Amino acid sequence: MDDLREKYLGQIGGAADESALEDIRIAAVGKKGEVALKMRELGKMTPEERQIAGPALNALKDEINSALAAKKAALADDALDARLADEWLDVSLPARPQRQGTLHPISQVTEEVTAIFAEMGFSVAEGPRIDTDWYNFDALNIPGHHPARAEMDTFYMHRAEGDNRPPHVLRTHTSPVQIRSMEATGAPTRIICPGGVYRADYDQTHTPMFHQVEGLAIDKDISMANLKWVLEEFVKSYFEVDGVDLRFRASHFPFTEPSAEVDIRCSWEGGTLKVGEGDDWLEILGSGMVHPKVLQAGGIDPEEWQGFAFGMGIDRIAMLKYGIPDLRAFFDSDLRWLRHYGFSALDMPTLHGGLSR
Ligand code: DAH
Repeated sequence: MDDLREKYLGQIGGAADESALEDIRIAAVGKKGEVALKMRELGKMTPEERQIAGPALNALKDEINSALAAKKAALADDALDARLADEWLDVSLPARPQRQGTLHPISQVTEEVTAIFAEMGFSVAEGPRIDTDWYNFDALNIPGHHPARAEMDTFYMHRAEGDNRPPHVLRTHTSPVQIRSMEATGAPTRIICPGGVYRADYDQTHTPMFHQVEGLAIDKDISMANLKWVLEEFVKSYFEVDGVDLRFRASHFPFTEPSAEVDIRCSWEGGTLKVGEGDDWLEILGSGMVHPKVLQAGGIDPEEWQGFAFGMGIDRIAMLKYGIPDLRAFFDSDLRWLRHYGFSALDMPTLHGGLSR
């Protein structure tokens, strides 16, 4: 028995892997293993011999089994250590360029717009995409019967019967953020608010979800001239050209008086959209001097303060700058399109470095 013990414990100690251990287990304590064969010999022994040999053989079997289990655990630990050493990964290494995703043109343009207005002293404000009809309409001087409500093709949130909360809508423009930011900071103020907006509309230049950037500047002596200058500066920086033709058209919005819409000269020839040339005009924004009732709704005294506001289509100016002919493709999630029009995440827009690729 001592020979058996020495033999198998020695083999177990030297086993290189789990399959070697299994072979040893079968040879030693398997059904036809050496220990089992020895147990069969118990029958031929005298009762006295058996009383000594029986428990001793069982003890040997247990000893071999525990040695096997211990060695198995040790082998597993070694294997894990080897893997940990082998598969070590430096998570601080830079990403591989070919695996980088790209920034969606909307994100890129939002960054560009924010950088340009930041330079002019505008900070970024945000508001909810689901808002009450008071913020979206009433506070902006669009009362219940006003045709603008119908014109905007508003998505209304479902209301259960007996629900007394104010009606909620998917905001149809970023203008409600004007009211929220007036409430939050009072006057003077200078903010932009980029974000998603919603209308039930769908064609080459309209999608049910799109993006606007709202602008609001309130101070003691702000005029339409300031508005015009800010917009012209913006357009020059954004399109990186001095010769962009802008057209200010007298217009009407309930929340501004006077109001103007701004179009930009472009051409659609050969299926591509080019800015600064051609005989077409694409409307990019609405603007005007904030209506006294709107200032009042935001808690600001119109006798003391005045301001200008504008609302610009981010998707529209993205199409113009990067020559993207169909707005609907922005939201198709077509990988080929995203690879073509997407931007490297490392290609951060700066004013000094030029904004385009
Ligand atoms: N909210 C308007 C729209 O979505 C755009 C707009 C027009 C915003 C004039 C303004 C503004 O701030 O002054 O069509």
